[in-house]
Amino acid sequence: MSEILQAEALTAEQISDITRQTNYGTWRYQKGWKPLTITDAEGCWFTDGVGKRYLDFSSQLMCVNLGHKNPRVIESIAEQARELAYAAPGFATRARARLSEKLHEVLPEGLTKFFFTTSGTEANEAAFKIARMFTGKSKVISRYRSYHGSTAGSIAATGDPRRWAMEPAGKTGGVIFAPETNCYNCPIRHTYPGCKIACADYIEHMIRNESDVAAIIVEPVVGTNGVLVPPPEYFPRLREICDRHGVLLIADEVMAGWGRTGRWFSIDHWNVKPDILVTAKGITSAYVPLGLCATTQQIADFFEDHYFSHGHTYEAHPLTLGPAVATIEEMQRLNLIERAASLEPYLRENLEAVKAKHPSVGDVRGLGLFFAVEIVKNRATKQPFNTMRDKVEGKPIVVDQIAAKMMSKGVFIQAWVSHLVIAPPLIVTKEELDLGLAALDEQLAIADALVE
Ligand SMILES: Cc1ncc(COP(=O)(O)O)c(C=O)c1O
Repeated sequence: MSEILQAEALTAEQISDITRQTNYGTWRYQKGWKPLTITDAEGCWFTDGVGKRYLDFSSQLMCVNLGHKNPRVIESIAEQARELAYAAPGFATRARARLSEKLHEVLPEGLTKFFFTTSGTEANEAAFKIARMFTGKSKVISRYRSYHGSTAGSIAATGDPRRWAMEPAGKTGGVIFAPETNCYNCPIRHTYPGCKIACADYIEHMIRNESDVAAIIVEPVVGTNGVLVPPPEYFPRLREICDRHGVLLIADEVMAGWGRTGRWFSIDHWNVKPDILVTAKGITSAYVPLGLCATTQQIADFFEDHYFSHGHTYEAHPLTLGPAVATIEEMQRLNLIERAASLEPYLRENLEAVKAKHPSVGDVRGLGLFFAVEIVKNRATKQPFNTMRDKVEGKPIVVDQIAAKMMSKGVFIQAWVSHLVIAPPLIVTKEELDLGLAALDEQLAIADALVE
């Protein structure tokens, strides 16, 4: 520890208390928030203020894809700070040029022009503005099971209950919601494949019956709202519908991108090209805050002689761009995309075994190193223990109890309403997966005891 830090040494308890008293805890009732002090993290592990280690089974917020303390990325932050810490967005920088070239290696083909932000939320705001300016239309179609960010435009496009507190005045207008693609628990009570993916056709019905639709935004693999993987025909069909009606397809890859699903981007599973791709999180493994809105050349060309009415002081901030180059290089050097894909069968098989053993597990689903374990009160009816409304009303949530107990046993896992999210760093070993799965297996007894 440096001399300055030593002179100011605070106990873990003091750090937590000051944080709790002076900061807002996000997306929660403030009562009962007692943030754990984290002092260190390395690989798939982090350490609390009293030296206890935890397996990071959800890569913090599904973002530390490279694992903690990657030396090359850490060095790139220092290098970039020494070379050039800031330049206004109107200037060209080496970091900006290098990252832009690097992105062309990994993004789906055809996405050639970039706008950089400092979060996924802002990247989606950029996408909506660009789509509206380019098409001259205003409406955006989103889906109920989705999260696209927290500010006025992106919360308006968010289908989950985090939107409710902003209704009606705190969000931008013009977003309409389509049913999600959830083959485990279809909101329109269809069954795949007999449904012939009616959920995609319904989007066409919406477009025909609305005027003025600029874009549809989708998480190709829905993240927080359940790791929902669509059937193979869904994205090719959606692409056709968009093309037929001149509607832009926006792929929100903030969570599912960067190798998480065993491809660079989750839309790559279906070989479909979006008009706009939005991402953040894993682009720097979350070491520095960077978001990206990437568009096709056709959209880019439009702005040659139309005013591009968008910007931020921190757009293309060099300190965020240099480390993104290092992150992508590290992902390539360590073959992490292939690694996530190759570990998928092992993880799936083990989760299927967990499901077979526990009556409270309704479904396990996912791709790569991105899986959800859905907990139900009744397997036959698929009735969950908790609803979205329970979440916003601060009621006790069964999956939160499971996650808290796993945490006490040294495994950190994210939980949301009725499922747990398994998304370890892509460097995870089979032994570490076994450790996390064993903790899950043990604590599922909490839900099993409540099954009807
Ligand atoms: C799919 C998706 N889009 C957008 C966002 C917002 O990104 P950020 O939290 O960086 O603003 C998130 C965050 O979790 C996300 O999962």
